[in-house]
Order: sequence, then structure tokens, then C-alpha cells
Amino acid sequence: MDESRDGMAPGARVSRRGVLQGGAATAIAAGLASTSADAGTAVEAPALPQGAAPGLAPVVMERVQVTVNGQQRVLTLDARTTLLDMLREHLHLTGSKKGCDHGQCGACTVLADGQRINACLSLAVMHDGREVTTIEGLAQGDALHPMQQAFLTHDGYQCGYCTPGQICSAIGMLQEHKDGWPSWVTADLTASPPPLTDGELRERMSGNICRCSAYPNIVAAIREVEGGSGQDADHPGVGRKVPA
Ligand code: FES
Ligand code: FES
Repeated sequence: MDESRDGMAPGARVSRRGVLQGGAATAIAAGLASTSADAGTAVEAPALPQGAAPGLAPVVMERVQVTVNGQQRVLTLDARTTLLDMLREHLHLTGSKKGCDHGQCGACTVLADGQRINACLSLAVMHDGREVTTIEGLAQGDALHPMQQAFLTHDGYQCGYCTPGQICSAIGMLQEHKDGWPSWVTADLTASPPPLTDGELRERMSGNICRCSAYPNIVAAIREVEGGSGQDADHPGVGRKVPA
């Protein structure tokens, strides 16, 4: 008897390659059949706008006028351009960093009309007529912004990648606190502003991730600007001023 070890006659054995080839052929045949079956009732595809590539949505360009670091900028951008890409790719302000591009790390934090936002989650067109401040716009000439100086003084960074976002976020955060905004950990919602405990401070800065874990020194830097001791109470001895 002419049977192989698997007990099947050679003609009846199905190889993996055969299954794949057969499947592909069936799919193609089904596609052709459905094309020819639909031919009588075919609906014409809508005409593409001039210049649009088939299969791609047409690009919509928008004029955007934004004041960036005190300077008025007028750009014509693809309407899908994020604020972060506008700053980095079009205005070459590369201080704001792209960490995740998904709103998860805070490296792209800038101030829009004084409020901290993730520039990667915001479209540039949404800021038409608004004021945006990046890390490049904080210093006055050679005089650093107090928050920049405090980060230097307390060694609030290591690689520095998160630092522009941390500094912009800290400035926005202190203003939010001053304006009486509560946080998730605010115990007394009637206190305005609530006491800025280290727990409050850490929660309010939790959207800014530091892969180097410079957190105690970051807290100390923010504390100094806020008017506190410049010490991180949760980590005594850490966040001391760095000798000049
Ligand atoms: S790059 Fe915007 S939050 Fe990470
Ligand atoms: S200093 Fe390196 S990520 Fe924060």
C-alpha cells in the first residue's frame, strides 16, 4: 500500500503552502466575483479634490497667528499640525521636548495664555490669537526666571530632557494653586488656596515624568520659588542648595 507515515495517500496530503495558496486564490476569486456581481449597481466613488492622492484625506492648510515668547508669528500650516510640532519643526524652538507625543510624560509642557498645557495634545490652530510661552521665553536677557534659577540652585535635573517641561509646568502649577484650584488630594475644598503640602505639590506635578528621578530636587526648587524652605520635607537632606 502506497501510504506515507501519517497514513494519508500522497495525493490526499495537504501542505501548509497549499493551504495558503488555496486561500489566496479563493479570496481573489471571491473578490472578482463580488466585483462582477456588483458591476450592474456600482456606485461611483466621489471625485477627489484636485491634487489629492487617492486613498488619502486632502490636506487642509490654515493660517495661524500666535504670539510666541512675545513675538507675533504668522504661519500657514496643515490643520493637523500639533502646537508642539509648530514650535519645534516650524519655529525651530526645540526647548519643548517630544517625549511620548501622547500626553503621558509632560516633556512638551508650555504655557498658553499663562496656563500649562501639553503641546503634543493641542493643535496649533487652536491657539490662533493666543499667547504661548516656551522655556526659551522665560528668561529676561541674561536674567533667568526664578524657577530656572531654582532648578539650577537645587540641581533639579540630571539629563535635562524633562526639565523645560518641568519648569513651565511648575510655573503654571504655582499660579493654579494661587488661584485656589484644588487637586485630587486636596482634603479641604473650602480652603483657597489649599495648603501646598509636599503631597499636594507632588500630585500637582505628577503629569511631568522624570526618567532620571530628580524628583526630590525638583520639589525643593519649586518650594524655594513658592516661598518655602527650599527643602523637600519627604526627603530631608535632599534638595539642598548646590554650592556655586
Ligand atoms: S510629549 Fe507631550 S506629554 Fe509627552
Ligand atoms: S532630568 Fe532626565 S528625565 Fe528628568
